[in-house]
Amino acid sequence: MGKIAFVTGITGQDGSYLAEFLLSKGYEVYGLVRRLSVPNTRNIEHILDKITLLDGDLTDQGSLIAALTVAQPDEIYNLAAQSFVQTSFKQPVLTAEVSGVGVVRLLEAMRIVCPDARFYQASTSELFGLVKEVPQTENTPFHPRSPYGFAKLMGYWATVNYRESYGFHASNGILFNHESPRRGIEFVTRKITDGVARIKYGLANEIILGNLDAKRDWGYAPEYVEAMWLMLQQEKPDDYVIATGETHTIREFVELAFEYAGIDNWEKYVKTDQKFYRPAEVHVLCGDSTKAHRVLGWKPKVTFKELVRIMVEADLERYGRIMQS
Ligand code: NAP
Ligand code: GDD
Repeated sequence: MGKIAFVTGITGQDGSYLAEFLLSKGYEVYGLVRRLSVPNTRNIEHILDKITLLDGDLTDQGSLIAALTVAQPDEIYNLAAQSFVQTSFKQPVLTAEVSGVGVVRLLEAMRIVCPDARFYQASTSELFGLVKEVPQTENTPFHPRSPYGFAKLMGYWATVNYRESYGFHASNGILFNHESPRRGIEFVTRKITDGVARIKYGLANEIILGNLDAKRDWGYAPEYVEAMWLMLQQEKPDDYVIATGETHTIREFVELAFEYAGIDNWEKYVKTDQKFYRPAEVHVLCGDSTKAHRVLGWKPKVTFKELVRIMVEADLERYGRIMQS
């Protein structure tokens, strides 16, 4: 019999790719979804008949216990979060409830219902924040720079503590930024590729951004979800940095995106506005995933340039279809 997986955040970028990946491995997949006034299943529309959705919310303890009781999973992937850093400054308490205390709620539900399951926590390079060294490894000290960052710090330590206190098979994936055509439109990469496609089709004449000098280590999301799965296949739980080891500025991303769309003079179209700057910035992220390569055999393949091309082409194609209809 195939294994059973329970995925929170299944409607998001990573959750949808992970669900596809687990189905390809023969898993029975359960996904936690919260009630929204307008359902948001766009990313999983194509697999809805192959997965089971269970109602619940990371802010509601009982719903997590009920969902795990139905699913009885072998593996739990906690990908749900208020994941947008900018919003976390505006809604810090909600972010702490979902992305911090929510992890504790899910671990408690697991302790009550299925303590022998394996647990993955979606930790983040935002833990490094004001970085103490470049590149960042599993041993680099943390210094989060946003409510999102300090909420995720709680999730990280909750995972380590349930491992140490109760012998849980619980692992943190410290994932650096990873993108795809399914990336939410408010994140900078997708905002750029969506904006470039609009400009190409004459639907817009500018993109308004914030800090173009920040640097990120950007990888390709479908490859990163495989790393999550690999962590739970190990005999012992542990924490791993997942990254490309390359860092690029937002400006470089913009330049390449315009180039791939065949639009000259990107400076003509890109404006900046203080409202997209953050109260505290994470200036540079660059990860060293040597441990993941050594232990998990994981290595990224899609390069920065290929990633930009994939995202630009997907948005051009999408607007092309819209314009034809
Ligand atoms: P995403 O696209 O923003 O997806 C977030 C998911 O969380 C959505 O399915 C959302 O559901 C769900 N969610 C939000 N609040 C919830 C709540 N109160 N209860 C239950 N579900 C809730 O994020 P992503 O990019 O796939 O990232 C997945 C995880 O990895 C997140 O935890 C993120 O913080 C973390 N992470 C991401 C990156 C990255 O670069 N992508 C890097 C490191 C870590 P709705 O559809 O209902 O909104
Ligand atoms: N969103 C956004 N919008 N960011 C902008 C803009 C803009 O108009 N202009 C410049 N930026 C800069 C931000 O200041 C930041 O330095 C960088 O672009 C990346 O911002 P985001 O794409 O919003 O991602 P993030 O790095 O803050 O957070 C993402 O990666 C984390 C992992 O490091 C999210 O996916 C988090 O959930 C994840 O943990």
